[in-house]
Amino acid sequence: MRMGMLAATVVCVFAQVDPGVRGGPAGAGGPLPGLTTAELAAFNRGKLAFEEADGVDEGLGPRFNLDQCSGCHMQPAVGGTSPAVNPQVAMATKNGALNVLPPFISLSGPVREVRFKFRPDGSRDGGVADLFTIRGRSDAPGCNLAQPDFSHAANLAFRIPTPAFGGGLIESIPDWAIRANVASNALLKGALGIRGRVNTSGNDGTVTRFGWKAQNKSLLLFSAEAYNVEQGVTNEIFQTERDETPGCAVNGTPEDHADFVTGDPGDVFRFATFMRFLNPPAPAPPTPSTINGRNLFLLTGCALCHTPSLKTGQSSTAALSHKTANLYSDLALHNMGSGLADNIVQGVAGPDEFRTAPLWGLGQRIFFLHDGRTTNLVAAIAAHAGPGSEANVVIAAFQALPAAARQDILNFLRSL
Ligand code: HEC
Ligand code: HEC
Repeated sequence: MRMGMLAATVVCVFAQVDPGVRGGPAGAGGPLPGLTTAELAAFNRGKLAFEEADGVDEGLGPRFNLDQCSGCHMQPAVGGTSPAVNPQVAMATKNGALNVLPPFISLSGPVREVRFKFRPDGSRDGGVADLFTIRGRSDAPGCNLAQPDFSHAANLAFRIPTPAFGGGLIESIPDWAIRANVASNALLKGALGIRGRVNTSGNDGTVTRFGWKAQNKSLLLFSAEAYNVEQGVTNEIFQTERDETPGCAVNGTPEDHADFVTGDPGDVFRFATFMRFLNPPAPAPPTPSTINGRNLFLLTGCALCHTPSLKTGQSSTAALSHKTANLYSDLALHNMGSGLADNIVQGVAGPDEFRTAPLWGLGQRIFFLHDGRTTNLVAAIAAHAGPGSEANVVIAAFQALPAAARQDILNFLRSL
């Protein structure tokens, strides 16, 4: 018995462990320093809109994933990502709704949006299929709309929310800086099998940078798309209901719009302004272990994709102009191999390509990777390796480090 306990202790000392979600106050959710009084007021108004729950009369549905932005973007503060308690569970039956919870949604699991990879005829689908409909809700009399059939598990691809902290800084990094960074260290990257390429907007050719596949150009565009895709609220950028079933789509479109009498710009503009002015997450004070971990993160090659910082260009907003964004991402796409591949194509991004996930704020995140498959950093790192992944050599180098060195890297990651 004593010997067994001793052996267990020894194993614990030498196997690296994810320290878990960092306690203490949320180091995120506040405004950028240096905003003008008017900008700060716009940030605060935007936050209220971001937190507002919509009913059907305000545009919710006919199909939707949740009724408010902040429900999905909540951890560790408003603007962040999936909280510990998944609000989609209560949402299924809120206000009398008759939705059945799909098997991949649970109270302690991540918020998820789902896409069908292929249509029944075998062609690519890839669009978001909303979990819920407004059927049965007290504010939706006369709507009879069935949920999609989610029973073919192999045809489903999941995404969890990406946090929006520091969104304005990401928006303000010039294309040339992103492209130059991707082209840098070419010999070293080549030797390690790392390539990387930017995703681009079809018409104007500029670098797109938001979302798990860097598929989206700007916070305004993402807000408009999220309003229509996640909540079913039509707006000035996405004017059309995604489901036009009579008796269910009853409001005039677009449901969200500017008000020319009051000068109110509408919700989409407010969401975007809130996120644009969100401060990036504040890291924990460094310790000898996290300092060593950061050095090893650079030496092992993690930083060849997870670029520690990029600088913004000249912005028309002083608080965003010529600032350093410590995002730990190159904002570029990498082939992550068949283990992570989701078989979804978006813009330039192929079925196995993902944007290097920014790591700022990682210390207070609960769920990791695009589909939220793990809460454990060790597993998230191991999942980088697989047939065809550009990260294979770097991950092998990480796994070959002494356990104490790996632990320092994990401690560093949880300090972000
Ligand atoms: C049901 C959950 C859910 C709701 C509600 C939701 N989102 Fe999201 N959000 C997501 C997911 C999932 C992603 C990642 C999507 C992707 O990459 O395809 C995301 C990503 C984003 C991003 C990209 C951030 C980045 O840096 O990549 C922005 C911006 C955003 N959402 C804004 C909003 C706004 C504004 C609202 C409210 C209108 C909203 N979201 C409502 C789930 C949600
Ligand atoms: C070839 C580029 C590349 C290399 C090298 C790389 N990563 Fe990543 N990393 C990514 C991409 C892309 C993702 C998102 C993958 C996904 O969600 O499917 C990611 C995701 C992560 C995540 C999860 C973040 C989140 O938001 O869920 C962590 C943690 C992480 N990487 C740490 C590391 C560490 C530590 C190393 C070095 C040992 C490393 N990465 C090396 C590209 C890379």
